Amino acid sequence: MVSYDSVFEEECEVLSNRRVGKYHEITFSSKRIAKAIKVGQFVNIKLNRVFFRRPYTLLFKDNGKFSILVKVVGRGSKELSEVTEGKSLSIIGPLGNSIFDFDITGGESVSMVAGGVGIANMVSLAMLLKNMNKKSRLFWGIKSKDEFFDDYLHFFDEVFISSEDGGVGYKGFITDVFREKYGGEFVYACGPLPMYKAMKELRLSEEKVLVSLETVMGCGIGVCYGCSTKTLEGYKLVCKDGPNFRLSELVL
Ligand SMILES: Cc1cc2nc3c(=O)[nH]c(=O)nc-3n(C[C@H](O)[C@H](O)[C@H](O)COP(=O)(O)OP(=O)(O)OC[C@H]3O[C@@H](n4cnc5c(N)ncnc54)[C@H](O)[C@@H]3O)c2cc1C
Ligand code: FES
Repeated sequence: MVSYDSVFEEECEVLSNRRVGKYHEITFSSKRIAKAIKVGQFVNIKLNRVFFRRPYTLLFKDNGKFSILVKVVGRGSKELSEVTEGKSLSIIGPLGNSIFDFDITGGESVSMVAGGVGIANMVSLAMLLKNMNKKSRLFWGIKSKDEFFDDYLHFFDEVFISSEDGGVGYKGFITDVFREKYGGEFVYACGPLPMYKAMKELRLSEEKVLVSLETVMGCGIGVCYGCSTKTLEGYKLVCKDGPNFRLSELVL
């Protein structure tokens, strides 16, 4: 469970907003959040056009700045995608647990299974593994070629891509490619629920599979119970007990 002693609210200035394929990579200056945030954690961003803050995973960080990757799906993400350099936004973070609360960097390599914008979770993990002299294998599933971009692929040692229409990479679901290539290593996954359901059917050692849940959130800080998810130990809050859970723990 996350401790709120090290969560900050900061006014973060937008340093850049860059188009990456269909998404937007936004970099913020930050003194405290950038220093504290770890791989797998998220921030909660205040916007004008929506009531609740909107949660975004750490894409990567550097001295005094951090970046997120934004897919436009509604009013909040649209507003975020349009922020310009010099604007400041109120951001709370770091929130949620990180991959360091689990043992997934314990082996020689980590496989990462990402659906669409779920690749955002994998970039900082791939960078971390490189620093640890460990290998990263990315399995990235997208719907069609227009969702493809190659900006971050060089961070990974091995890359497998699939698209549902076959426009790029293997034709079909990424879980089918993963099933063929998987060698028993630790796994980190971020994508839609059907992807996790398909992974459950692969009958992996689910203890070795960590998944990041991106449920719709309200408060983001454990107050509203809007993000509860069913686990073997009862309902847990994605914002507070997650967003990372062992696949073995989840009732999907
Ligand atoms: C821990 C966490 C980390 C996240 N990290 C990222 C990230 O790195 N990049 C990114 O682009 N998005 C991320 N998301 C999802 C992002 O927060 C939502 O897309 C955003 O809040 C939508 O706000 P909106 O106002 O644009 O859309 P809304 O108007 O709130 O919703 C528009 C549509 O999108 C759907 N939707 C809203 N939230 C989600 C969600 N969480 N998952 C799936 N569908 C949703 C709604 O059901 C609705 O159909 C993350 C979510 C969580 C919980
Ligand atoms: S979003 Fe309110 S409790 Fe998790």
